[in-house]
This record gives sequence, C-alpha cells and structure tokens, in this order.
Amino acid sequence: MNRFDEDLRRGGLRIIARGATRLCALDPDSAAHCLKFELPAEARGRPSLRQRVRRALARYWPYFGENRLELRAWRHLRQRHGDGIEAHFAACEGIVQTHWGSALRCRCARLPNGQPARSLYAQLFDGAPEHSADALCAAVDEFERFLLQRHIPLFDLNAGNFVVIPEGNGARLFCVDAKSVLGGKEFLPLSRYFPVLLRRKIARRAQRLRQRIREALAADPALAPPLAGH
Ligand SMILES: Nc1ncnc2c1ncn2[C@@H]1O[C@H](COP(=O)(O)OP(=O)(O)OP(=O)(O)O)[C@@H](O)[C@H]1O
Ligand SMILES: [Mg+2]
Repeated sequence: MNRFDEDLRRGGLRIIARGATRLCALDPDSAAHCLKFELPAEARGRPSLRQRVRRALARYWPYFGENRLELRAWRHLRQRHGDGIEAHFAACEGIVQTHWGSALRCRCARLPNGQPARSLYAQLFDGAPEHSADALCAAVDEFERFLLQRHIPLFDLNAGNFVVIPEGNGARLFCVDAKSVLGGKEFLPLSRYFPVLLRRKIARRAQRLRQRIREALAADPALAPPLAGH
C-alpha cells in the first residue's frame, strides 16, 4: 500500500480496489455508490507518452483527467442507448468534492450479499477464482455480443474494467470503466466510425481477454475453479 492509499484509509475510507490510474472506495455517505480518486503521479505505474501528456494537461485543466473522461463517456452512452445501458455499465453521477479531494461518484456494483463485486482481474490473479474459465469466457462472449449489437466502441477490454456478477450457474460481466468509449489510443480513430473496423477490433480484444482468462486459470491447477454448481 502506498502513501496515498494509506492516507485515504486513515481518513476513514474503505478502499474497494485500485486501478492503474485511480483508486475506488466505498462512498461513506451512500451504500449505493463508490468514489473514484485519481492517483497522484508518484502513486501510478509507468505511464505511456499519451498518458503523460494527458496527465500534464489534467494538472491545469481537469477536463483531461480520467474522471472527467469517464463521466463524459458515461453521459455519451446514456444519451445514445437510454436507461437500459445501466444493466451493463456503472452509472456515473458526477464529480464531487469530498473531504479526501475531488472524486467521481458512481453506482457501486455489488453482489447479492451486499459486498462490492470483485473485478475479473481479481478473479484471475488475486485469491481463489469463483467461476470456471468456461463460465468467464461465456460471460465475455455475452458482453461482446452486446457491444457488437449496439455498436459500442468499448475497446479497453482489460480484466480490471469489469466486475463479475454471479448469474444462475454462471456469471455475467458488468463494465465499471467506460473511458475507452471516448478516449482511444489511435491517432486516427477510424474504428469508431467504420462498423466493420469496430467489429473486428472488438472481436480481437474480446478474444485476447478470453485467452488471458484461459491462461490465468490454467497456470496453476491448484487455482482451477470448481465446476459451476459444485
Ligand atoms: N462502480 C464500481 N463498482 C464496484 N467496483 C468498482 C467500480 N468502479 C471501479 N471498481 C473497482 O475498482 C477497480 C479499478 O477501477 P477503474 O478501472 O475505474 O480504475 P482505473 O485506474 O481507471 O483503471 P485503469 O487501470 O483501466 O486505468 C476495478 O477493477 C474494480 O475492482
Ligand atoms: Mg480501468
């Protein structure tokens, strides 16, 4: 744990998880929400050139920060796809000023028992997985189908951007980080405008995610999850 996490914890916040650029904590004022804090430069990993430029700009113009980007991406999705989008993406309420600094307030994805849902990343690399590779890959198939049906350019299909919600004997994915719907890495974002390119790119990214799941859960037989329903 680094200094920034420690300060927030000491300040009374319950941290859910930390991504490469932000830390997510329970909202002490509302059980239904969580707060995302942008990590200070020294608490982040090695950034790419694009991230360094974005961060330098965000120091003077919050518009360029990750929280504002996610909020814009969420509003864009909501405007295009209506209320139903909340079944697949965590709703963002807005930027709030808290005792711990500025944060993005979002709906907190929770399990039926009330605990915050674990990310797909945590399922694969942090503690015992609760679902089989087949069940998680089926959940990726389902999310991929949904993105393709709606032509949603969510390209950052990394395991930390999804939480896993149990459903029947299997699981479904729920996206907790929509930034990439607006903020791509390409200089010319052609795949956002040409449906054929969009489909190909989503299919590639989903395939890569399924591969990661299979590799992670095959890596150590002791970590192999029990078959669904057992
Ligand atoms: N709405 C939410 N409900 C429950 N947990 C969440 C929520 N948002 C984020 N999390 C948790 O926080 C982790 C990091 O979130 P997020 O992906 O938004 O951070 P990030 O730093 O932007 O990520 P990246 O590494 O993609 O830059 C997630 O993997 C998840 O465990
Ligand atoms: Mg993320």
